[in-house]
Amino acid sequence: MRQVNIGMIGGGTVGSGVYHAWECNGDLMSSRLGVKINFQKVAVKAFDEPRPYAIPRALMTLDWQSVVNDPAVQVIIELVGGTTIAKTMVLAALKLGKPVITANKALLSAHGEELFAVAKQYNANLYYEASVAGGIPIIKTMRESFVGNRFTHIYGIVNGTCNYILTRMKLEGADFADMLADAQRLGYAEAEPSLDIDGFDAEHKIGILASLAHGFWVKPKDIYVEGIRHISKLDMQFAAQLGYTIKLLGIVKKPAVAKPKAKNGSRVQVSVYPTLVPNAHVLASVNHVFNAVFIRGDVVGDTLFYGRGAGKDATASAVLSDVADAALDLKHGSKSRVPPFVPHEMAGAVLPIGETVSRYYVRFSVVDKPGVLAKISAILAASKIGISSLIQPEGHQGESVPLILMIHDAPNAAMTKALAKIAKLPVVKSPPVMIRVESFE
Ligand SMILES: NC(=O)c1ccc[n+]([C@@H]2O[C@H](COP(=O)([O-])OP(=O)(O)OC[C@H]3O[C@@H](n4cnc5c(N)ncnc54)[C@H](OP(=O)(O)O)[C@@H]3O)[C@@H](O)[C@H]2O)c1
Repeated sequence: MRQVNIGMIGGGTVGSGVYHAWECNGDLMSSRLGVKINFQKVAVKAFDEPRPYAIPRALMTLDWQSVVNDPAVQVIIELVGGTTIAKTMVLAALKLGKPVITANKALLSAHGEELFAVAKQYNANLYYEASVAGGIPIIKTMRESFVGNRFTHIYGIVNGTCNYILTRMKLEGADFADMLADAQRLGYAEAEPSLDIDGFDAEHKIGILASLAHGFWVKPKDIYVEGIRHISKLDMQFAAQLGYTIKLLGIVKKPAVAKPKAKNGSRVQVSVYPTLVPNAHVLASVNHVFNAVFIRGDVVGDTLFYGRGAGKDATASAVLSDVADAALDLKHGSKSRVPPFVPHEMAGAVLPIGETVSRYYVRFSVVDKPGVLAKISAILAASKIGISSLIQPEGHQGESVPLILMIHDAPNAAMTKALAKIAKLPVVKSPPVMIRVESFE
């Protein structure tokens, strides 16, 4: 049986998980693939660093270049993370024509376009299944299984930390800060949690999916991002009362176009923001650290993929899937059988957030006296923004009371402008809270 030798850089959470999964199921993989997979070398930063699973000392080196340059090593796995040294490692391997496997969404988000171009130039493949939604095989599905589809809508719950916090806020009526502290204690959130809770990790992932779906490289600067810090238990409760659950969604969708040749035909919304999801929609039931990606293709219709979005074992499963592809490509001499990313929609562009249209949930904090609603609705009406329903709950004491409006479809720019005007009314006591509502139509 032909043998393929793997060199891995990084033996931490994911790297040791990959090695462990290979120890458990490597023989099974070999018999399924007809290729023997062999881990030749593993580069780490320090030998005695604690690891979730042990890696034999004899395999380890502190010199990553000796792994990349070893003529016996045919495939490189990069599991170091970050966008600096990891980029150097990936480029060094690609330039030797070696296939590279990475789980590094931050690296792809920042430098994907360049890395895919180098991979093409050197006739090497770059595999990245583990970079989005951990164990969910979403990259392979989009690249291969759905190759005959245009992607009209992608909705992703792709950050387990945010989903964990929002789920517990909903189920326990808890505050954001308490749930974040709990997530940190349990190891679901970093001590410095910004990457997750401010939406940047989801931005990296949704940018990769958007690029793959629409064939032009979506730059992080073009993606509108809002995190979950401002979500309060009050909004969770009102959303529930209205039949919704708040989720952090990565969204990639083509706006409805009145005429097929309208100017915005090739423009795509790519964004990350907290969203009111109707309780009847399947994404509302994706709880705790689980991830889900909902894809609508013009041929296949609606599909849903669910699973663990991170963690040493789930992520290892995705890396091993890439190992299998790389091994088969080497076996059959077809290094780029499925190209990693091929630009194919040169005129594509990201729709600015101001031009996107959606429904909205808005919570005002207003003084409790007659005429307040008339003042607010006059400003909305002047901007051609329609109210679909309203709640003003009883029993709130004090100087100000909540007023919740559900707003019909409206352009984001008009909505933001109208809310800025409303915020200046003396009867409005604090900045309005605006959360977009998704109807999945
Ligand atoms: N953790 C997850 O659940 C998850 C899920 C999906 C994707 N990812 C991605 O997977 C990648 C790895 O994440 P991780 O959680 O496994 O990180 P990690 O636990 O911090 O592991 C990083 C590894 O890189 C090694 N390393 C650092 N600098 C190095 C250098 N100069 N030369 C050689 N080795 C070096 C470290 O060595 P030492 O062990 O000696 O410190 C460590 O083994 C990241 O891109 C991350 O975004 C992670």
